[in-house]
Order: sequence, then C-alpha cells, then structure tokens
Amino acid sequence: MKRSIIVFVAASLLMACGGSSSKEKTASTKTGDVSQNPDYQNGLALVTKSDCLTCHKIDEKVTGPSYRDIANKYGDMPDTIISHLAGKVISGGTGTWGQVFMTPHPNLSQADAEAMVKYILLLKNK
Ligand code: HEC
Repeated sequence: MKRSIIVFVAASLLMACGGSSSKEKTASTKTGDVSQNPDYQNGLALVTKSDCLTCHKIDEKVTGPSYRDIANKYGDMPDTIISHLAGKVISGGTGTWGQVFMTPHPNLSQADAEAMVKYILLLKNK
C-alpha cells in the first residue's frame, strides 16, 4: 500500500515536470489554430510585458498601425523581413505608415524583438 503511494507520487511529479514540454509539442503539430503556435504565445507574452500595446491594438489603429494591418502588409514576405522589422522596433522610426514616430526600444534584444514580430505577423488575415 505504502509503496503504491510512493510510486503514484513519483509518477505525478514526473508528469508535472514533463507537462509543459509535451504540451508545446502537441501545440506545434496542431495546425490551423494560430493561438496554439509557440511563436504566437512567446511573442504575445513579450508584447504584453513591453509598452507595445499602448500604441498598437490588434484590429484598431491607435498611435501606431494595427497589428493586423502590419501582418497583412508583411506577412507574405520572406523571413528576412522579421529581422528588419525587429531592428525598427529596437531603433524606432517613422515614415512607413505616416508621420508618427515609434519610440525606440533599446533595451530589447534582437531575439526578443524578432519573437514579437513573429507574433504580429501571425495575425495576418488568411
Ligand atoms: C509610442 C508609440 C509606439 C510604441 C510604444 C510602439 N510602437 Fe510600433 N509603431 C508605432 C508607429 C507610429 C509606427 C509606424 C511607424 C512608421 O510609420 O514607420 C509603428 C510601427 C510598428 C511596426 C511596423 C514597422 C514598419 O516599418 O512597418 C512594428 C512591427 C511595430 N511597430 C511593432 C512594435 C512593437 C513590437 C512594440 C513594442 C516593443 C511597439 N511597436 C511599440 C508606434 C509605437
């Protein structure tokens, strides 16, 4: 009896540790539902932590263009566009969508900025 309890506890501990990675695997193999894509989830978490959403909304132009508009503009371009846009998020800029300036984000790493851009580009209308 005691032994089976120990086995049970050990098994559930193992499951608790392995849980998140196995979840990610099923998410990436699941196509169609973009919110299950790890790139979407990572990027969204970073965007939510930063100040992006004060100027950008998904479907509505605020200070900056909506993320949907950005995705529709760049979503079909080759992957090199991701590092280009990430660079613009880091250094800031203006002139593509109007005369309003995006503030620079010098504390963002290129990798995090690229993760944010990947999330944004996944919002493209199919
Ligand atoms: C102060 C407001 C503001 C903040 C904060 C902001 N943006 Fe922007 N963003 C803008 C504006 C304005 C533009 C349009 C710039 C232009 O016309 O070139 C823009 C454009 C963009 C573009 C498209 C660039 C292009 O060349 O088409 C991306 C991608 C983007 N923002 C991502 C982000 C991300 C990610 C964050 C958070 C780290 C962020 N923005 C924070 C205002 C902002």
